[in-house]
Amino acid sequence: MVMTVLGLAGSPRRGGNTETLLDWCLAGARAQGATVVKFSLCSLDLGGCQACDRCWTDGRCIVQDDMQMLYPHLRTADSIVLAAPIFFQGMPAVPKMMVDRCQCFWALKYVLHQSLVEPGRPERLGAFLSCSATKATHAFDGSLAILRSLWHVLEVTPAGELLSAGVDGKGEIAKQPGAQVAAEAIGRRLAQEREVERKDT
Ligand SMILES: Cc1cc2nc3c(=O)[nH]c(=O)nc-3n(C[C@H](O)[C@H](O)[C@H](O)COP(=O)(O)O)c2cc1C
Repeated sequence: MVMTVLGLAGSPRRGGNTETLLDWCLAGARAQGATVVKFSLCSLDLGGCQACDRCWTDGRCIVQDDMQMLYPHLRTADSIVLAAPIFFQGMPAVPKMMVDRCQCFWALKYVLHQSLVEPGRPERLGAFLSCSATKATHAFDGSLAILRSLWHVLEVTPAGELLSAGVDGKGEIAKQPGAQVAAEAIGRRLAQEREVERKDT
């Protein structure tokens, strides 16, 4: 079975440190035989959640923008990898907007009690790749908390984190020892075939 890995670049700086990590990771996934789908979130037309609660009635978001194109990928990918730098102790606004727009998935699951993913499908895996200018590793805490919440809603098992502290100028990630090898290894892991989950009825 060919695994599908969804890669989401969350920095407005194209070709920057986190997108480089993402490209290394996706190269690892491709080398393992996966089909890779990549989007640069800041190049899409994305708006924030309107908190209108319309999704509480049918699990769908009424905001008509590029999230409508992303939703099926978020629901069906075998693995998801989000790459986003640290901006003011958290993730930048655009990837956070994407996370907030997953509120319709939350409503589907917890208000309407419907399944987000096909029952019995193989376990979905997720990974987070990030860079911060500061060497203080607590810089990642805010984003990691958001990611835990996102993976839970998406029914994704966290399967890799690459947090590169002390990386600031564009291209500096290439000088971080071991970063490329670690990102590729995460990609290979995301692309590995998984057993179909057994659900006791
Ligand atoms: C608006 C903005 C806010 C930032 N805030 C932080 C921060 O709070 N802590 C930190 O360590 N680095 C911060 N940075 C630095 C970035 O995390 C760092 O440059 C990172 O390597 C950028 O990754 P990218 O090339 O993928 O965009 C900030 C950068 C910008 C542009």
